[in-house]
Amino acid sequence: MPGSSESRSDALWARARAVMPGGNSRTTVFTSPRPTYAASASGFSVTDVDGQTRLDFVNNYTSLIHGHSHPRITEAVVRQLALGTALSFPTETEVRLAEVLVRRVESIEHLRFTNSGTEAVMMAVQAARAFTGRPRIARFEGCYHGAYVDHADEDLLLPFNDAEAVEREIGSHASELAAVIVDPLPHRPGFVDPAPGFLQLLREVTRSLGVLLISDEIISFRVDHGGAQRRFYPGYAADLTTLGKIIGGGFPVGAFGGRADVMAVFDPTRRAGPKVAHGGTFNANPVTMVAGYEAMAMLPPSEFDRLAALGQRARDGLADVLENRGISWQVAGKASLFKLHPHPRSVVDYRTSLPTPSEQAAMDRFCQAIFAEGMILTPELAGCMSTPMSEAEVDALIAAADRAFKAIGLA
Ligand SMILES: Cc1ncc(COP(=O)(O)O)c(C=O)c1O
Repeated sequence: MPGSSESRSDALWARARAVMPGGNSRTTVFTSPRPTYAASASGFSVTDVDGQTRLDFVNNYTSLIHGHSHPRITEAVVRQLALGTALSFPTETEVRLAEVLVRRVESIEHLRFTNSGTEAVMMAVQAARAFTGRPRIARFEGCYHGAYVDHADEDLLLPFNDAEAVEREIGSHASELAAVIVDPLPHRPGFVDPAPGFLQLLREVTRSLGVLLISDEIISFRVDHGGAQRRFYPGYAADLTTLGKIIGGGFPVGAFGGRADVMAVFDPTRRAGPKVAHGGTFNANPVTMVAGYEAMAMLPPSEFDRLAALGQRARDGLADVLENRGISWQVAGKASLFKLHPHPRSVVDYRTSLPTPSEQAAMDRFCQAIFAEGMILTPELAGCMSTPMSEAEVDALIAAADRAFKAIGLA
């Protein structure tokens, strides 16, 4: 975001550009014309290096469900720091977090930890290939599954929500398909709702053809105590599920798990050794494990309900702002997640979600305007709730959106 020429963010970005390409180490956090550097964060607030504090609805891309530096997580991590941060031994901390996750997600019998969602997806794909003996993966066009799958050109691309095409394409490629990976609430196209029965059909088609179904819930796990598979899409039980973000309590994390017979490809106690070796110097490191355990412990079903109610309040309030100002945008999202689409067209997949260049320009202006009003959203105008938030923060967001629309002269 723009700042005065003497700002500390300017100075930091100049130093960053001398040592990193474009001053950047994470594409997602670049904002034009230059990023704002953060100094500290607590609860729902982030303070930048020039002393401005804003309300954070990004929460490190949905991963901080308890906001920043939650005291209970901080205490657990500080205790663990003195006990060792990374060991060449397993610890009880990984057993405890694995037990919690296996209890929560009905279709997960066994799981393993990684350091990121990207790695969790990579390993789920490896598991599917080893188990089925088939090489290819199918995924839905424009849906994000991490830095690895995003670049696999050989994948079969399917249109989301198109039952006929899905049945036809999976049917005609089944003999080479190890798995279909699907995000049940695809975030890159803007939290597109699956059409009624679509995920169940996907489940039936894959099961009947011996193709594994991988549910990528790295973001959508935050919609329910049992993950996206439970409340929203009963009858859609995945063979493998990938998790990340909130399960690490704010630390780097990923996990993948599912059917015990599929996950057995990693079992080192097999006579011939594991079919697939899966290392990772920091896998299941106890710092992440204790942070994740505390984060999960503070998330009973009632807390998911409270977050979902806050999300609904945000979606309703933003829709009212649009209606009162006569702006033909729309609001999407589920549970604690929301997103503004800068057009009124029906969004059913990636292609229909795409804004025109002028709609994109309006989004960019709105993002800067609401940032100036003290609210942090993603450049795609998505956001999420964190447990330190109450109705007051949601109402502040709605009022700021109203002022931001006025400031950019949309209506
Ligand atoms: C659905 C989904 N899969 C995978 C990933 C990759 O996770 P990570 O950024 O932890 O590597 C993300 C990240 O946003 C995601 O949203």
